[in-house]
Amino acid sequence: MKQERSMSVGRGVVVAVSLLGCGGGAELESINALDSVGQEIVGGIEARPGSHPWIVSLQSHGSHFCGGSIIRTGPSNESHLVLTAAHCIADASSGLTVVAGAHDLTRPMAGQVRVPVKLTVPHPAYDPDTTMNDVAVLVLESPIQFNPSIAGGCGQSPNMRPNLAPQLTPGATPVPVCLPTPGEQVPDNVMTTVAGWGLTREGGYEASSILRQVGVPTVSSRQLASMYAPHGIRINPQAMLGAGYAQGGKDACQADSGGPLVVMGAQGYTLQGITSFGIGCARPGLPGVYARVSNYIPWILQQIQLHPLH
Ligand code: ARG
Repeated sequence: MKQERSMSVGRGVVVAVSLLGCGGGAELESINALDSVGQEIVGGIEARPGSHPWIVSLQSHGSHFCGGSIIRTGPSNESHLVLTAAHCIADASSGLTVVAGAHDLTRPMAGQVRVPVKLTVPHPAYDPDTTMNDVAVLVLESPIQFNPSIAGGCGQSPNMRPNLAPQLTPGATPVPVCLPTPGEQVPDNVMTTVAGWGLTREGGYEASSILRQVGVPTVSSRQLASMYAPHGIRINPQAMLGAGYAQGGKDACQADSGGPLVVMGAQGYTLQGITSFGIGCARPGLPGVYARVSNYIPWILQQIQLHPLH
C-alpha cells in the first residue's frame, strides 16, 4: 500500500524530466488538440507563458523535481520565501535551487532567475507515513524581485487560462501568490487551477519541460475520505483538500508536488492547496490530494518572522 501512494520524488522523476528535453512534443500537442477550451500535468494544457508568475521549479543540481510558490513576506516588492511540500525536501541534500519566471525549462526566458536555497523548513508535524502537514518553507539565499506594477498586491495574472482575451504579458516577472485567511474554507465543487512541470501520464516518462496547467474541481472532504479509505489512506479534512473529477482524466502527477493549486479570491489568485499526493494519477474516483494551506497560516506567518530578509 505504502509504495502505491505516489509520493516518490526520487531519481525516476528527475531522469524522466531530463529525458523530456529530447522529444515528446508531438504527444503534448495531441493532448492540447483534444482540449483546447478548458484548462487542462495529466489532461492539461500548456500554460500561457508568465501566467503563473508565483510558480517556481525546485531543482536539485539543475534537475527539476518539484514545484513551489513565491509568497509575500512584507510590503517590499521582493521575497526570499517559497512554499512547497514537505515531502519534496524530505531527503533534500545540498545543491537545491529554485527557478522563477520560467516557462520552458529547456529554454530560459528573459527575466528568468535561479536562486540557491539557503534553508529548508519542513512543517514540524509533517508525518511521512500519513502525509499529514505536507508543507514546507524554503528560505532563499537572496530575494526574488517582483513585477514593479503589482505594488503591494498578490495573485495578479490577467493572462491565466481560461481567460479568453490574453493581454500583453509584462515579461515573466515574478508576482507572489495570495495566501488564504486562517481557516478559510474553499467550497466544494469550486474550479481550481493546478500547475507544474510534472508527468503528463501516470508512470510515464512523459514529463513536461513546458509549464502546464489543469482545471480540477474541489471534492467534499467526506467524499475524499470515502474514496481513499478502501486504500488504507486516512484523509484529515483540516490538513488536506481534494480536487479532481469522478471520472478521472485530469490531475497533478509526479514532479508536480509542492506546486500551487489556486482559486481566484478577493485580492487575486490564492494558494489554497499544495500538490501533495494521489494514488497513481488521474484515475477515476481518486482525486488529487493537496495540503490545505488555510490550515497553516499561523505557522507560515511565524516562518516569515523567524526568517527576515535582512
Ligand atoms: N507526490 C507526487 C510528487 O511528488 C505527486 C502528487 C500528485 N499526485 C496526484 N495524483 N495528484 O510529485
